[in-house]
Amino acid sequence: MTQTIGIIGSGLVGGAVARLAVDAGYRVVLSNSRGPETIAHLIAELGPLARAGTVDEAIAAGDIVALPLPLANFEALPADKLAGKVVIDQTNYYPEFWRNTELDNAELTSSELVQRHLRGSLVVKALHNLDWNHMYSNARPKGDPGRTTMPIAGNDAAAKERVTQFLEAVGYDVVDAGPLAESWRIEPETPIYFWPYAPAVPDGLTADEQKSAYLGHPVPPVSPDAARKMIDSAVRTSPVGGTLAAMPPAHVAIFMDLASGNTVQK
Ligand SMILES: NC(=O)c1ccc[n+]([C@@H]2O[C@H](COP(=O)([O-])OP(=O)(O)OC[C@H]3O[C@@H](n4cnc5c(N)ncnc54)[C@H](OP(=O)(O)O)[C@@H]3O)[C@@H](O)[C@H]2O)c1
Repeated sequence: MTQTIGIIGSGLVGGAVARLAVDAGYRVVLSNSRGPETIAHLIAELGPLARAGTVDEAIAAGDIVALPLPLANFEALPADKLAGKVVIDQTNYYPEFWRNTELDNAELTSSELVQRHLRGSLVVKALHNLDWNHMYSNARPKGDPGRTTMPIAGNDAAAKERVTQFLEAVGYDVVDAGPLAESWRIEPETPIYFWPYAPAVPDGLTADEQKSAYLGHPVPPVSPDAARKMIDSAVRTSPVGGTLAAMPPAHVAIFMDLASGNTVQK
């Protein structure tokens, strides 16, 4: 039977996950904070496997539920309705936008924080460590020499297997980084975060050329062995969390362009 991915968040990342999923033959139910009618254009673009719904409808329909929404909003997620669901945590901690003392003190990882709120859910951290553009454009079918590898982390083996099957179907090999307590190994500022999935942008380009190169240049794949080495070599960051200053500059520039209503030509 065709599986359905419920998606809570229909922005940059929510759109990328939806595109990956429908391309692989999954149904998707996309939701956001403003209501289903606000994403009619995205649903039309995604085609007949996609529909818009409320958050509750996305949860009810989802065999897996993805969370591409700001970490700052995790407590708005309805834990009772998500109980029993396999949940993909795509959030990341950026203290310049939102601060949490327990995270700052490294008392738990951001995905443990999400799991603690979603007490009855099976949280798997995944599809959080690359730009929304590359999340879609880096995907390759099994056996393709350009296929790259994604890390996941989670406390439940069966849930991790479900998410692994999903990632493999949409275009990625997968390595297991361990339980959520170890998910700091794949958080912002670690070796496997963002940079391995982004193309090298040559020096000497104008700002617009840099953005085009970032979007258009091919990205060498990360092998499962290389992913494993990056995970194993990670050091827990202090202070905790990511910064925009440590992101690929073209990612930040494209993000800022979108926020101000500009578009980027590939
Ligand atoms: N941008 C990236 O390249 C990237 C890559 C990897 C991971 N991430 C992570 O992915 C998450 C989303 O990033 P994004 O760039 O896609 O953000 P975005 O474009 O701002 O989209 C966020 C979405 O979350 C929805 N939302 C917010 N609060 C909600 C709530 N309480 N209930 C339902 N929906 C809610 C928003 O709804 P409305 O549309 O109604 O406002 C919006 O659709 C963040 O945690 C980010 O750290 C981002």
